[in-house]
Amino acid sequence: MRIGIYGGSFDPPHRGHRIAAEKAKDALGLDCLLVIPANQPPHKQLTAGSPSPEERLEMTRLAFRDLPGTEVSDIELSRGGRSYTVETLERLHAMYPEDELVLLMGTDMFLCLEKWFRFGDILRLAVIGAFSRNPGEDADLAKMERHLAETCGARVERIETDPFPVSSTQVRALLTRRMGRELLDPAVYETVISRRYYGAKPSLSWLRSVTEPLQDPARIPHVRGCEEEAARLAERWGVSAEDAREAAILHDLTKKYDLAEQLKLCREYGMITDTLESCSSMLLHSKTSAAEAEKRFGCPAEIVSAIRFHTTGRAGMTTLEKVVCLADAIEPTRTYADLTEIRKLAYTDLDAALRMSFEGTLQSLARRGLDVHPATLQALEDLKK
Ligand SMILES: [Fe+2]
Ligand SMILES: [Fe+2]
Repeated sequence: MRIGIYGGSFDPPHRGHRIAAEKAKDALGLDCLLVIPANQPPHKQLTAGSPSPEERLEMTRLAFRDLPGTEVSDIELSRGGRSYTVETLERLHAMYPEDELVLLMGTDMFLCLEKWFRFGDILRLAVIGAFSRNPGEDADLAKMERHLAETCGARVERIETDPFPVSSTQVRALLTRRMGRELLDPAVYETVISRRYYGAKPSLSWLRSVTEPLQDPARIPHVRGCEEEAARLAERWGVSAEDAREAAILHDLTKKYDLAEQLKLCREYGMITDTLESCSSMLLHSKTSAAEAEKRFGCPAEIVSAIRFHTTGRAGMTTLEKVVCLADAIEPTRTYADLTEIRKLAYTDLDAALRMSFEGTLQSLARRGLDVHPATLQALEDLKK
C-alpha cells in the first residue's frame, strides 16, 4: 500500500491544503493519505493568538472530514514536543512495515530539505512527493532532485499542480479584515469566528446570511434598517462602522423568543436576571442576544455590551453603545411621534438625541403603566450631566 503523509501547521487549514491533498492522492496513486498537524513545527514559531495544537487538530479534522481515503492523525500531537518528521516516519514505518510511505511537501520545503533534522533518514524512510507550487520553480526543483538522488539516493516524484496562490499567513491576515471566508471550509470558518482565532472578524455578508434565517422574517427589515443607521451614525461619531454593523446585525438575535424561552436561555448561560427583567421578554432579549453573540459568534466585549444595553442603556455608555441604541430607535422603518426631531439631533448632538429617545421611552412606559428599568434612569441621569 502507498501511504501519503501530509504534515504541516494547518494554522488554519485552508482550501489550498485540500486541493493539494486531492491532487497528490490522484497524481501519486496513494491508497490512503494521513494528514498530520504538527504539535510544534521545528522550523517556525506559531503566531501569537494561534489556536492550541488540539484546536488546530480539530479544525484540520473538519477541513478534511469528507475527503475519501483520508485520515487526520494526532501522531505528532500525542508525541508532544517539537514535531520532527523523521520521528513521525520512524513511527509510521514501525506501524506499517510492508507499506511505502510518501512524504508530501511544497517546493519551499523541498528546496531546504538538507536542513531538516536527520534528512538522510527521512529520504531512506520515504519517497518524496514534491508539489510545484509556484511557476518558475521547476528548474530549481529538478536541480535539487538530481542532487539528492546522487548524494542520498532520494526517490522523488513530482506533483504538477495549478498553483494555489495563498498561504496560511495570508489567510490569517485576510481574516482580520473580515475577508478570506471563501478560502476556508464553512465549518472551519465558523470555528475560527466563534473563537476569534488570529483576531479574525466575521464577514458581514456571512453574518447576515446565518442570522437572518434565525429571526422572525417580519423583523428583518428593522434589523437591516438598524444596521444601515448604525453604520451612518458610527461614521458621524468616529467609531468603527463595521463594528456598529456587527452589533446591529446581532442586536435582536433572540427577539422572537417568548418569556419562558428567554428565561431558559438565561439559565443556560448562567445569567442572573433582576425582578423587572424576569417578567419582561422585551428586556431579556438584549441580554440573551448579547450572550448568543458572544458564544456563537465570538463577539468582543465592546460589541457584546452594545447589544446588551441597546434597550435599556446604562450610565457611562460608550459611543458604540449609544450608536447602536439610537440606531435601533430611529432606523428608517420606525414610526412614532418626535422621531423627526430625534433623527435630526442624532447627527448633531448624539447625547441630546439619546436623552430625547429615553424620555420618549419613559413616557410610553408610563402610559402603559409599566416600570422603567433602573439602567434607563441611570443612563438618562448620566446624559443630563
Ligand atoms: Fe431590541
Ligand atoms: Fe431592534
